[in-house]
Amino acid sequence: PTRRPHIGGNWKMNLTLDAARSLAAALRDGVAGATQDRVDVTVFPAMPHLAAVADTLKGSPIAVGAQNAYFQPDGAFTGETSLSMLSDLGVASVLVGHSERRHVLGESDALVNEKVLAALEAGLDVTLAIGEKLEQRENGRTDAVNAGQLALGLAGVPAERLARVTVAYEPVWAIGTGRTASPEDAQAAHAAIRRALVSLYGADAAAGVRIQYGGSMKPGNAGDLLAGADVDGGLIGGAALQSTDFLAIVSAAA
Ligand code: G3H
Repeated sequence: PTRRPHIGGNWKMNLTLDAARSLAAALRDGVAGATQDRVDVTVFPAMPHLAAVADTLKGSPIAVGAQNAYFQPDGAFTGETSLSMLSDLGVASVLVGHSERRHVLGESDALVNEKVLAALEAGLDVTLAIGEKLEQRENGRTDAVNAGQLALGLAGVPAERLARVTVAYEPVWAIGTGRTASPEDAQAAHAAIRRALVSLYGADAAAGVRIQYGGSMKPGNAGDLLAGADVDGGLIGGAALQSTDFLAIVSAAA
């Protein structure tokens, strides 16, 4: 199968409005030519910066995603953002289930699933993040944890919508720590995630799903990580805040 690589830049709760605009402009000007035909690129700015970044990237091949959204269409949900509010801004996708939302903000698999279903129903693409904690890895439970989060996160998603889902595999112990999974460990986890997708959706649908690696991916290790047969891109945190680093990772995926 030929899966077009997908690189995501998760800006998390960083940058000023001006800095977000400048970073978007640098990416718009830097992702050019051959690269843009071979790689999908999505950036996930902080909620208050979405409109400005979407405006800056209008007409460019870089898609804008939100780091979160609520699944209800409207109503008394103080502090939350609906999917249609995001669509109105030109936001094309949503990141769901990031480990910081699971482990810092306490999101459950059930809430993750509600968000995945609602986002796909609203016509947005989804990046569904999964990944094991250090203790789970040390207990040999990596593949079981990933398969469980995947099955619960995708519950009720029909096969024909699966192509709009990118899975981001992010071992929690590698996020923001400078510790990266070895290319071999990353590929092994990705292959197991794909097997889990095969058992849920069958071989054809599973073969089309992009699985990103996330966790301290940098220009210096991106090439080796992306060489894995089931590693179809990356979800980048820290290195996505620097246009030169992020563009170098995009080039490595091309
Ligand atoms: O969403 C991105 C990941 O959490 C990775 O973050 O590249 O700073 O380790 P990081």
